[in-house]
Amino acid sequence: MGESFTGHESPEGWPGHVWCEGRTFVHLKSDQPRPTHMPRGPAAKSGTGFMNPAMAPARTRSVLLLQDALQHGWVNGDRPIRALDALCATGIRVRRWRNEITPSHQPRLHITANDLDKGALDWALASTTSDEEIEHTSQVDDEQMQPEFIEKNGIKFQCYDARMAMVQGSFQWIDVDPFGSPITFIDGALQALGRVGVLEVTATDTAALTGSSASSGMRRYGHKGIVDLYAHDDAVRVLLGTIATRAAQLDRAIEPILALFDGHHVRVSVLVRKSKQGADRNRELIGWRVRTTDKPYSFTSHPTPEQLAHASGPMWIGPLWNEDICSRMTEDKAVETCLATSSDIERGAALGLEWTEADQLYAEREIRRSVRHIAQAAPLLSRDHLLLAFDELPRFANVDSLPTMERLISALNEAGHLTARVPDLRPFVATLAPFDAVIEIMQSLQSTE
Ligand SMILES: C[S@@+](CC[C@H](N)C(=O)[O-])C[C@H]1O[C@@H](n2cnc3c(N)ncnc32)[C@H](O)[C@@H]1O
Repeated sequence: MGESFTGHESPEGWPGHVWCEGRTFVHLKSDQPRPTHMPRGPAAKSGTGFMNPAMAPARTRSVLLLQDALQHGWVNGDRPIRALDALCATGIRVRRWRNEITPSHQPRLHITANDLDKGALDWALASTTSDEEIEHTSQVDDEQMQPEFIEKNGIKFQCYDARMAMVQGSFQWIDVDPFGSPITFIDGALQALGRVGVLEVTATDTAALTGSSASSGMRRYGHKGIVDLYAHDDAVRVLLGTIATRAAQLDRAIEPILALFDGHHVRVSVLVRKSKQGADRNRELIGWRVRTTDKPYSFTSHPTPEQLAHASGPMWIGPLWNEDICSRMTEDKAVETCLATSSDIERGAALGLEWTEADQLYAEREIRRSVRHIAQAAPLLSRDHLLLAFDELPRFANVDSLPTMERLISALNEAGHLTARVPDLRPFVATLAPFDAVIEIMQSLQSTE
């Protein structure tokens, strides 16, 4: 095989114009506008060579998680991690793994980047050529069948159906980021993970996951939804529940590491282990959310016939995050790992990057926003907690006005009830307080105003 997947020396439209995501330079097709900082929402267009800038925060968190796994050894001890980006498109995620994770960990990071789109892979190869060569370890010893691939900067680029790519190898880390539903890739990914591994899944079919499209929710996820303020949390839990159920069928157990609804997509990262007992225990964490009159909701393993009209599920009702790992995902850590340095920007300028001080300022804000509230909410979302829509509280407490969210959070913490804001575009808090205590504190805050 030559140095490109199509056989053409340089991809059509190359080099496009240059953008910087994290510490990595991205060649955008000339017809893709320069991204605005903090882009949100679904991609306005797609197709070969299109890079969705709204996914930058998810990619930043992926860099941080993989780095944390290498540093703290929670996937494969101090042995190598074989990571597969099964639907890599133009390779931005794998290049960020290579460029941004601390160099001392790189020799243990073996990366495979796969996509069915040859044009996108050509673009990925050309982009990787302009990256700084990072010291890595040759992958010839990998215990996997060697399909055809082209290696650049220690990244094996290959063009297979993602399901085939998963069958062909054994990995400790698999990223699944398709257009729409990930459902067709989940079984293959679970089986391609070794004894212990991490599965990261993106789902953009939020209408199915939230229940706003009832028929596709039922068809794909066996889920009956209720579209209310808990629909986003439900969507995250439905995807986790689906992965846990599929994993259990394969004698595997999951432990969520980080799971978020981020604007227009759901992204979950789970540790998967071969364990029949763990799989049995996971089954006990599948249940339903029942809306009640005296408090916003409670979880139950199965709703009664009377509760069913007010219940959404089945879904994962266990913890959503790993406390230790998420506590380390601070804004400062994200900036230290993923914000371009002045020498990065100088190197980018040589490639044609135009980057102002304002761009740098916005980039830092964006990186901080990618992990905002995660470390503070980690002790809560890693155990059973009550999730409360802040704007709904006056109605429950029968008061006219809301305190500031900061005031409520500190009053609950001062009263001994661990409480924090959770990362959601809308204002939500998670608390260990009984709901009655939240109401009492709301009422007392009103009377002191
Ligand atoms: C949402 S994009 C991936 C974006 C990428 N992860 C990123 O961060 O830029 C989905 C990709 O899946 C690829 N794709 C779709 N079906 C596939 C399949 N069955 N096997 C491999 N790749 C596939 C498409 O070519 C496309 O590049």
